[in-house]
Amino acid sequence: MKKPYEKPVINKLRSGLMNKFGQSPAYARKVREDIDGVSIDDLVSQYGSPLYVFSEKTIQKKYHEMHSAFSTRYPNVVFGWSYKTNYLNAICAIMHREGAIAEVVSQMEYDKARSLGIAGKDIIFNGPHKPAAALEKAVIEGATINVDHLDEILDLERIGKKLKRKIDIGIRLNLDAGIYPQWSRFGFNLESGQARDAVKRIVQGGHLRVTGLHCHIGTFILEPSAYARQVEKMVKFGYELEEDFDFSMEYIDIGGGFPSRSRLKGVYLPPEVAVPNPDEYADEICEALTRALKPGDYPKLILESGRALIDEAGYMISTVVSSKRLADGTRAYVIDGGVNLLFTAYWFKFKIEMDREVGGMNEVSVVYGPLCMNIDAVDEAVQLPPLKPGTRLIFSPIGAYNNTQWMQFIEYRPNIVLISPDSKVDVIREAEDLSDIVRREKLPARLKLDNPK
Ligand SMILES: Cc1ncc(COP(=O)(O)O)c(C=O)c1O
Repeated sequence: MKKPYEKPVINKLRSGLMNKFGQSPAYARKVREDIDGVSIDDLVSQYGSPLYVFSEKTIQKKYHEMHSAFSTRYPNVVFGWSYKTNYLNAICAIMHREGAIAEVVSQMEYDKARSLGIAGKDIIFNGPHKPAAALEKAVIEGATINVDHLDEILDLERIGKKLKRKIDIGIRLNLDAGIYPQWSRFGFNLESGQARDAVKRIVQGGHLRVTGLHCHIGTFILEPSAYARQVEKMVKFGYELEEDFDFSMEYIDIGGGFPSRSRLKGVYLPPEVAVPNPDEYADEICEALTRALKPGDYPKLILESGRALIDEAGYMISTVVSSKRLADGTRAYVIDGGVNLLFTAYWFKFKIEMDREVGGMNEVSVVYGPLCMNIDAVDEAVQLPPLKPGTRLIFSPIGAYNNTQWMQFIEYRPNIVLISPDSKVDVIREAEDLSDIVRREKLPARLKLDNPK
């Protein structure tokens, strides 16, 4: 067969020798022929490319690792699955089956948890926007509500008056745990006295009762000791409130933020080295609780871990559709799934594996998605050997915050499949077609085209 003509270029070799971080070209040249025993070939021929794949086995493993790290160190632990991290019904159902309650941050997420059969009492309702109607429903259904701001307190007081009963609430705090920039836009600030003032105001109002404290210090927190600082501050504040007001510390909700084994851009060590394991977090947190709590006090410890439980269970299989040279000589590839499907590519450098052995020199290459927009680069510099169209590239870990933040932009969104522990494959979200895109559109009669060209 005649080979396609390609203009020769003189290109400085940047073939990526072993560097001081131990990253050899071999790192970038991993071959993955299957996911949990199902071949990449079979997956693509049955479900198409691009394709999102989740591993149930990995979810179970991650959940058990994290849950046992905490439940073996503290007697009263509850996990709330952070819906926004991944609210596919099948993923939520696995988390609930493993024992997690639901943690939601909007009316939509609340409705989703309820539609899955989760009772209100097993839902934690967080977030800065809880419309009054959603709040009232959550109150009636017995959800745990952590208030974010003063206007929400006023809304809840109105609901309390209307329902003629006192409503139990938690209060969200923001505090300095040594993580910067501090997430001070959510909840009430601890150090400035704002949180204490809010509780005083709630007590004086007479319609609400504070029963818990909530705080989420950020995401991808690589420093376990930050949680120790957070927990000590929360418990100390709780005891101050117990002393001064009608308050009993029924729960301490420390949010999520635990990292996955992903490579955050700007962190040079590989994730295997940079990311502490769940036991290191549990040690810091449970030791801090033991130090800070009075003997015999065991308020419920709630964790809202999202990313750490799901990220590594997710893969995206894509296909190389073209290989080209940019004007400066850089090798570039176009693949069929881009930032429309991998929103977190802006912050994370994914592992990229190939479905087959490929010979030839590694070269620093750019990987572009399919969008006709300059923003669509999935990786700006990755060592890859010369790839032919048709080669599959497998991206991981991509299970957190991608299929909730993905964009319906230019392309259809693909199938999502789940592989069961015994290697059965189920579609858990069907690929879109044109009917999904236009379903909510209305074309005014006067714009109907009589004689379409
Ligand atoms: C209130 C709250 N809880 C839990 C989470 C989950 O965080 P992560 O996925 O980092 O564990 C978030 C994420 O921002 C959050 O805002």
